[in-house]
Amino acid sequence: MKLRIPLATERIRSLDASDMLRARIGRAYWGTSFDLIPENLAHRNPLGAFIRNLHEHHANGDGLLMFGDYGTGKTSAGVLVLKETMARGGTALMIPAERISSAVIEKTTFDGEEDMWERMQDVDVLLLDDLRREHVKDFGKSVIESLIRRRYDQRLSTLVSTNADMDELVRRYEASMAALGEKCQPIPFEGINWRDDGGSSAGSAVCR
Ligand SMILES: Nc1ncnc2c1ncn2[C@@H]1O[C@H](COP(=O)(O)OP(=O)(O)OP(=O)(O)O)[C@@H](O)[C@H]1O
Ligand SMILES: [Mg+2]
Repeated sequence: MKLRIPLATERIRSLDASDMLRARIGRAYWGTSFDLIPENLAHRNPLGAFIRNLHEHHANGDGLLMFGDYGTGKTSAGVLVLKETMARGGTALMIPAERISSAVIEKTTFDGEEDMWERMQDVDVLLLDDLRREHVKDFGKSVIESLIRRRYDQRLSTLVSTNADMDELVRRYEASMAALGEKCQPIPFEGINWRDDGGSSAGSAVCR
């Protein structure tokens, strides 16, 4: 197990492209900014509070369960937390849920020291993106459950984004949902479809 260093209480460094690449954040999300979230959206305040107190959430292993329809900003919100984590001296990783089992089977490399499966298990904050009920076969399901369980046991923060409704997820991931339910604050995303309604300037900004 790696030594855990507390996160700083505020940003201590700026980020560049190498941070984004190391965290496996897709280029479309590099420019994601909290300031671009309209003030009337319900997820803005709980997300802002989570980011402000990130050092405490990191210490407790608290995460987020971000759920809602297509294009409501869930992945972007998760990326904001990853960026803040790195800016405060921590490590971060984004992994699409559907790629987890192939990363395990193919022993995908993370860097010279670790493979992806190890990195998913020990990174300070993990964004498990687009968790669905239906797309994982049984092997994928057990890998995801084991990942959630291991991170729970180590008190590491996990962020989950999903389009599925909670009942579906609970039915599918019964064992690990208890861990997620205990450690993840649920935040509903609604009231906007960024892809249709706006946010056209969003992807173009540089990493902040
Ligand atoms: N805070 C933000 N800052 C900048 N751009 C944003 C932000 N939130 C959303 N967007 C823009 O809106 C688009 C859709 O957001 P996002 O991908 O986060 O939605 P989602 O809820 O994860 O969608 P899906 O359910 O399809 O996975 C993004 O590609 C991004 O360009
Ligand atoms: Mg998404």
